[in-house]
Amino acid sequence: MDYSNSASLYEQAKEHLGGGVSSNFRYAGYGESPVPLFYSKGRGSRLTDVDGNVYIDYALANGPAILGHAPPAVLEAVSRTLSMGQLFAGQHEMELELARRLTGIVPCAELVRFASSGSEAVQAALRLARAHTGRRKIVKFEGHYHGWLDNIFMSVAPSPNEAGPASAPVPVSHTPGQPESVLGDVLVLPWNDIDVFAEALRAHRDEIAGVIMEPILCNTGALRPRPGYLEGVRELTAEHGVVLVFDEVITGFRVGLQGAQGLLGVTPDLAVFAKALAAGFPLAAVVGRRDVMEQVGAGGVMHGGTYNANVMSIAAGLAALDELSRNDGEAYREMNRRGERLMAELPAIARRHDEPMRIFGVGPAFHVAFTDEEDIHDYRSFSRIDGARRDRFNARLHSEGVRVTTRGTWFLSAAHSDADIDESLAAAERAIAVLKEA
Ligand SMILES: Cc1ncc(COP(=O)(O)O)c(C=O)c1O
Repeated sequence: MDYSNSASLYEQAKEHLGGGVSSNFRYAGYGESPVPLFYSKGRGSRLTDVDGNVYIDYALANGPAILGHAPPAVLEAVSRTLSMGQLFAGQHEMELELARRLTGIVPCAELVRFASSGSEAVQAALRLARAHTGRRKIVKFEGHYHGWLDNIFMSVAPSPNEAGPASAPVPVSHTPGQPESVLGDVLVLPWNDIDVFAEALRAHRDEIAGVIMEPILCNTGALRPRPGYLEGVRELTAEHGVVLVFDEVITGFRVGLQGAQGLLGVTPDLAVFAKALAAGFPLAAVVGRRDVMEQVGAGGVMHGGTYNANVMSIAAGLAALDELSRNDGEAYREMNRRGERLMAELPAIARRHDEPMRIFGVGPAFHVAFTDEEDIHDYRSFSRIDGARRDRFNARLHSEGVRVTTRGTWFLSAAHSDADIDESLAAAERAIAVLKEA
């Protein structure tokens, strides 16, 4: 593929944008292109870059484009509101309407607060948990990502020599500039091990305000919770008066209208949504149990944001909900069907080429790994997959016109068609053949 226009723009970008990009996640993560690409158009399931290369897109803006790019119903709804004004430093009726709809859909949502990004909404959840309990520490799990802000950006992808013992990991800072002091406010645990969790909660019961997790671990391999794990965590957190937060920034409105909590049947105290919530417009929400959420009202907890519940994003959220709920959730049935077809047929292709492949996750969000290990359930076991081989496969797929996320996760949208799946499988067959030869 020719990337010369992107290469030339990137040279210019380095003169004007810090590091040449606006988010570090936009660097070419698995060697798929020599420079971060510039795009000129997204429509439906397809993206076009400035060199005219077209991709079937399974990155979907890292999740938000659940209805595909430039979804007509959402664009129409947003454009109808443009003349109303965008921000009032005050309320508008549509935000009330969206909050009402969310409380009717999301199991844990008795009250809603809107924000503009997942990282921010996570911060609100952590503050609520601390204010509600009067305790300081937050439990987070290795390999889970909850945004880029200092107080929760640790042990996302720690190197094995820094990470400490498997059952008692040490919090590992993830970026220069992050103060050491925040590491002491977090207890890092391995995910999917209920015995370790129970012991940690017993040992630190008076210090732990909240537990935050991705209920399906989409930032590390789209791993699913072991049977009974979430139920166990739910029971133990309730017993110890600890606030359980599901970070549904990826799973929300992606794995189903009710998120992972609906799919898996476990209701947290708080949950955070963003990404697919407004199908590409910047909208996030923290939602949850009335008595915890009321800390932001009667409890005096501060939560602000100039852009919170801006008219465009709320209009997009309402239109996205309409589309996703249409015909009793047909969009999800179709995303699941097409995603599950990829999940079944990709390993079949790999088998024909004598490559070990396992797929983790669910139809709308899954990860293709090269491994024959059976028991992969957390960050450390996942780090035993052949990541270099996966990256080479994904880079090869990219050159065949199929784009997955930099972490190797595939996201489906309602805009992917059966023909897209056929084409993607044919590309995967060619990519694996080349991988094998190499
Ligand atoms: C699970 C999870 N939580 C939080 C975030 C942060 O969201 P944002 O990028 O909107 O700040 C992300 C972003 O990828 C995420 O995947």
